Amino acid sequence: MSAEPLEIHLEEQDLGRSLREDVRAGLTATPKWLPPKWFYDARGSALFEEITRLPEYYPTRAERAVLAAHADDIAAVTGAKTLIELGSGSSEKTRLLLDAFTRHGDLGTFVPLDVSVSALRQSTAQIAAAYPGLRVRGIVGDFTRHLDRLPTGGRRLVLFLGGTIGNLLPAERAEFLTAMRAALECGDWLLIGTDLVKDPSVIVPAYDDAAGVTAEFNRNVLRVINRELGADFDPAAFRHVAVWDPQREWIEMRLRAEHPARVHVLDLEVGFAAGEELRTEVSAKFRPEGIARELAAAGFVRQEFWTDPDGLFGVSLARAD
Ligand code: SAH
Ligand code: AVI
Repeated sequence: MSAEPLEIHLEEQDLGRSLREDVRAGLTATPKWLPPKWFYDARGSALFEEITRLPEYYPTRAERAVLAAHADDIAAVTGAKTLIELGSGSSEKTRLLLDAFTRHGDLGTFVPLDVSVSALRQSTAQIAAAYPGLRVRGIVGDFTRHLDRLPTGGRRLVLFLGGTIGNLLPAERAEFLTAMRAALECGDWLLIGTDLVKDPSVIVPAYDDAAGVTAEFNRNVLRVINRELGADFDPAAFRHVAVWDPQREWIEMRLRAEHPARVHVLDLEVGFAAGEELRTEVSAKFRPEGIARELAAAGFVRQEFWTDPDGLFGVSLARAD
């Protein structure tokens, strides 16, 4: 079966409006910030894929090891008919699960959802070609806003892989998990990947690689704002910074103005002092008991928790209660 046409829940106008709101709120705040979802235009999505192949970036390899070891259990236990993937990107690791469902069950439909049209176009075409019996329905949408638009009925398994939940702030995370639970029926499943707390000497290089790919990914948000809103950021004038916060147990990516700068965007003139930083992403790292607590608070019961052999990354399988 070829992939169905993408279902668009985020039209160009919605994206533009929401980017304008975020830019206005984030660049007039102290300290300045931007939400990480704006990294992912076609170039940003391609840079993320490049990050996943870097020697320093362990999360993708570690999560893949967990899925390779447990995909058959996941297919057997959940018996899902519909597989939904939030923030699906390339859906590369998801193939391990699609293969397991092909061996075990009668999965009928795969529904990847992402803000990145380019990532979805590629992934839906490739998955549909590789799994001819599967119905592939890509959704262009925002997982913080569009969970009520997910397909209903049948036994569902929702995937949220890569540790992307760590890119939400704690309050956003609780809101997301509660909305996720509300969108599911009792007995539906959630498989969620979380990067684990570990020595910062492992985490920091993963977000500040020697080849500078993460730095380009980080600066890409400025290019997106220049293109979409006609702003005049000079990306080269901002230095990529990755800082581990030991209290909050998250790593922050920031862009530091090397020199004083004035940027024109919307009707704003935004001043940056020399050395001033703009926060572009947090990536929280988790402890096994903390994840179980957050899942339970939202109405999920964790049934399984697996890590890779080096204990770097955790994958929780939880049932909607
Ligand atoms: N799940 C993949 C990709 C992770 S990268 C993996 O594990 O490798 C994060 C993905 O989430 C990107 O494809 C990005 O476009 C998407 N994304 C980020 N914020 C989003 C949001 N608010 N709604 C939907 N997709 C989002
Ligand atoms: C998508 N997300 C889980 C990645 C992360 O590790 O937080 C995004 C990323 N940022 C820098 N490198 C990768």
